[in-house]
Amino acid sequence: MKELTSESLRNLYLEFFRQRGHAVIPSASLIPENDPTVLFTTAGMHPLVPYLLGEKHPAGNRLCDVQKCVRTGDIDEVGDSSHCTFFEMLGNWSLGDYFKQEMIAWSYEFLTSPEYLGIPVEDIAVTCFAGDEDCPRDDESAKKWIECGIDPKHVFFLPKSGNWWGPAGTTGPCGPDTEMHIIRNHAEADKLSSDQFDLAPAGTFLEIWNDVFMQYNKTADGKYEPLKQCNVDTGMGLERTLCILNGKASVYETDIFENAIAEIERLTGLKYNQSEDVTRAFRVVLDHVRTATFMLGDTKGIVPSNTDQGYILRRIIRRAVRFGRNIGLPQGALNSVSKTIIEKYKDVYPELVRNSAKIEEELNKEETKFSRTLAQGLKEFEKVASQLGAGQEIDGVTAFHLYDTYGFPVEITQEMAREKGLSVDVKGYEAAYAEHQAKSRAGSEQKFACGLADHKEETTYLHTATHLLHAALKKVCSPDIEQKGSNITEERLRFDFNFSRKLTPEEVAEVEKLVNDVIKADVPVVMKEMSLEEAKEQGFTGLFESKYGERVKTYTIGDFSKEICGGPHAEHTGLLGTFKIAKQENVSAGVKRIKAVLVK
Ligand code: ALA
Repeated sequence: MKELTSESLRNLYLEFFRQRGHAVIPSASLIPENDPTVLFTTAGMHPLVPYLLGEKHPAGNRLCDVQKCVRTGDIDEVGDSSHCTFFEMLGNWSLGDYFKQEMIAWSYEFLTSPEYLGIPVEDIAVTCFAGDEDCPRDDESAKKWIECGIDPKHVFFLPKSGNWWGPAGTTGPCGPDTEMHIIRNHAEADKLSSDQFDLAPAGTFLEIWNDVFMQYNKTADGKYEPLKQCNVDTGMGLERTLCILNGKASVYETDIFENAIAEIERLTGLKYNQSEDVTRAFRVVLDHVRTATFMLGDTKGIVPSNTDQGYILRRIIRRAVRFGRNIGLPQGALNSVSKTIIEKYKDVYPELVRNSAKIEEELNKEETKFSRTLAQGLKEFEKVASQLGAGQEIDGVTAFHLYDTYGFPVEITQEMAREKGLSVDVKGYEAAYAEHQAKSRAGSEQKFACGLADHKEETTYLHTATHLLHAALKKVCSPDIEQKGSNITEERLRFDFNFSRKLTPEEVAEVEKLVNDVIKADVPVVMKEMSLEEAKEQGFTGLFESKYGERVKTYTIGDFSKEICGGPHAEHTGLLGTFKIAKQENVSAGVKRIKAVLVK
């Protein structure tokens, strides 16, 4: 097999699919647009959901990209050899175009051809969907794999738990998949019959690619409705594939982290490999600093806070500080490590360079804030822990005190408790937290769920209202106002923008009036596709940094609003109801937030 680098794998993949008629589209933001059900983009298909459900994509019906993703379900596991909170997913999509036959032939070619990954065919195993009451057994895929050259002994079948893709428990496009694995232990693999894949000892197979054949939309009542079109959605984890193909022990030993490891070694005088504890602490710092760098450096960048994405960011930075202290990382080190990360990724994600000052400022600020209370908080924790015996629980009020006074996110207290054979009364913590919140009258809306949103009417109308608000703010407050973030639930829109102060009551009234005038005038919302350059020339607002995204959708609302946007939108403004600004908040010094509603 070839020795690959992260750069060469990205390029090989995109080039392969470009040559097969795919448009290379840029990575979307890490923060999902208008999707109230998830905090972060978790897979390449996530930003493409409207198109998988049938909307037309301006770049065509064959797409490929490298998508930045964050999955935060296993933060506490980071430090072992496989878990990461940030990763890049290579993916390609057919939007109602090709299906199983073409995709499997291409997957086979990309994996085995000496021009591409050059994996010996005898080292590849595949799994296919075994079938159930929702969807039949996928014999077509199995047959195609064998036709291509996969040994029939290496074709396995698994039920929904193994060969079905679509975020569990939520709604959205989904379907049976076929997964490709490298066989690491032939003796064990050879013992298995076609339905025994799950019985293989860990490490026998390593998964590298997943082709999803999307045929269904899972509805809120758990039904699988056939989609308007059959799609293909594939995902290959960049780091994981590099690690497996290059025979590395973990993703941290790939070229991605080389310079960052050298920097931590320089700062601490320790060696990455010198002991298990040291390796674990290095990995936590590496992963968490990388994730924090990408979150802060995102086009819709976020900052540490006590709710939503900001809380996750705070939690990972603080966990990095704690583990960093264990290996003697000095104050300010997170920023030095972050700089090596920015350097490594600067050509693929230029937003990191553009936002490097913000990354530095926020990392330093959060590190300093937590460092001030860390030593004392650890002392307090030790005192509490020393009074408890193995198996006992730290009570909720104490856990809340550690959070409120010393800045320990409860998950960090839980992790430290586990290290001492203790646990934390999380329910008690939540009760103490809620009591405190009720006193300070602030709302807590932490959402940790994963899934995909429905594009319900309410969210569509609020999306159109967001465009009107954006345009009105430009007119009333400053033409320099730009969108810094947007989030829509069924109840409200939330819009972040650059402005140094809150709006005065007069400005609020004026913005509301402008928006409501356009609603009353019942103006059509017009979508038009054009090239990014044309859109720029015609004065559409939007993000102009895409390297590859040539054709874009634009939405025009009379002569009031012109934005580049993926949609969907209301067909005409009269559908919206009455627009009302419900709340103003401070996000950071230069960024303000408005929450607004539509009253029927
Ligand atoms: N969406 C599929 C995955 O994430 C390809 O595995």
